[in-house]
Amino acid sequence: MDNSCRIAASDNISEDETLVFTASAGFDTTEGILTRLSDDTIVAYTNYCPHWRDVRLDSGSGALIRDETVVCQKHGATFEKSSGHCDFGPCEGAVLDTFEITVTDGDVYLTDDAWDEAEQGLSGDRDLSSGSQIGFWYSIDGKTSSV
Ligand code: FES
Repeated sequence: MDNSCRIAASDNISEDETLVFTASAGFDTTEGILTRLSDDTIVAYTNYCPHWRDVRLDSGSGALIRDETVVCQKHGATFEKSSGHCDFGPCEGAVLDTFEITVTDGDVYLTDDAWDEAEQGLSGDRDLSSGSQIGFWYSIDGKTSSV
């Protein structure tokens, strides 16, 4: 497995929280979150709310998890952890983009063809959810990126 795509030890991913990571390919970067389902499966979703794409679900200290959902703290949308489907809130019916990951030998790797590298943490020190930073977001074939 390519070490540049290792995100975290799988033991560090719990059901009660998310772990944010940054994926990159060339000059493109995006953020994802990892979380664990009740059946022990680890899943990865985009870290951006479909309601307002500049709002992170996890600003670095874990997204709010409630009743098997990830909660957007901006306007309260909830996303099923098992599917990424928004079952409540202003973007009800939307679905979080997923990342392909592989868990092997106790580690979680990003194995998504759209991205070349991954590391734990936010992309830079920007916290876009505060509204104090301006970024440019675009989506091509369902792959959301920032510059
Ligand atoms: S920005 Fe997430 S629910 Fe509005």
